[in-house]
Amino acid sequence: MSGEVVLQAVDLKRYYEVDRGTFKKPATLKALDGASFTLKKGKTLAIVGESGCGKSTMARLVTMIETPTSGQLIIGDEDVSHASRSTRSRLHKKVQIVFQDPYGSLNPRQKIGHSLEEPLLVNTSMKKAERREAALKMIRLVGLRPEHYDRYPHMFSGGQRQRIAVARALMLNPEIIVLDEPVSALDVSIQAQILNLIADLQQRFDLAYMFISHDLSVVKHIADEVMVMYLGKPVETGSRENIFARPHHPYTRALLSATPVADPFRNKERIVLRGELPSPIAPPSGCTFHPRCPSMTEKCTQASPELREIEGCMVACYHPKTY
Ligand SMILES: Nc1ncnc2c1ncn2[C@@H]1O[C@H](COP(=O)(O)OP(=O)(O)OP(=O)(O)O)[C@@H](O)[C@H]1O
Ligand SMILES: [Mg+2]
Repeated sequence: MSGEVVLQAVDLKRYYEVDRGTFKKPATLKALDGASFTLKKGKTLAIVGESGCGKSTMARLVTMIETPTSGQLIIGDEDVSHASRSTRSRLHKKVQIVFQDPYGSLNPRQKIGHSLEEPLLVNTSMKKAERREAALKMIRLVGLRPEHYDRYPHMFSGGQRQRIAVARALMLNPEIIVLDEPVSALDVSIQAQILNLIADLQQRFDLAYMFISHDLSVVKHIADEVMVMYLGKPVETGSRENIFARPHHPYTRALLSATPVADPFRNKERIVLRGELPSPIAPPSGCTFHPRCPSMTEKCTQASPELREIEGCMVACYHPKTY
């Protein structure tokens, strides 16, 4: 049933120890510092934020490529945060990932057909002819042609390669697909085609998506819910309608003001963020956004705001905009 929860994350954290040179103690880098969310059948959760805010780290946890430092990750009804290898490998099939650069994830010496059949060869007992048939069916489903079966990755355009990456992710009938910047490397004209394909496939297979992008405009049409991240933490989560029409957190508003709008006559506020993203090894005190925030006060430098509900969104800010 559409809307049913297929994955739940509770206060998920991932810290890395990083070396700082010979005479310094290693530092702890909080790549992801407490995120809670759910993924639902047939729905898309978009994760948005600047480079380095922890989006891909979250993707690696959700796809079980890495284990969390703490927190819970529940897939179906199993807690997989520290599950055995066999449980994880069984659940791996349910959760697939599409990366930004499909060239990196496709073997350049392998024909597309074989690339698509590989997950079936490893994980199922399907016979050769059945695997071939399944690959050809998928090739058609993602808008490619049967003759592409015998071609190599370099013979395709960027958009076509991303179609192949999506096809490969679908071969094992997953429930969840994590899309990590799936259209960021593509020309704007091609982006819309791939986004449409991704949306069509979601409907057809009732897939739950985690769609990662640094660009809010990309998720505008595909997201059901949006989670905005800053330095490893969610700062605002809400429905697409709420986030785009009534953004509360100053960071969400700054990201939106940098997003092109279709109507050039709309009177748009323009918030330009001061400064650069701080180092996650030595994050600012209090609210980590305060050095760049146009609304910051003394309080913001002292304590980190908890997420609280404001007009239907969850917002971590002492001075949210209300409507
Ligand atoms: N294996 C690792 N060891 C140490 N630090 C890491 C590791 N992986 C990620 N980081 C750090 O964690 C932070 C978050 O990285 P992550 O790749 O999740 O960001 P991102 O939001 O996906 O960024 P981008 O938009 O550039 O892809 C960064 O500061 C990064 O340098
Ligand atoms: Mg990333």
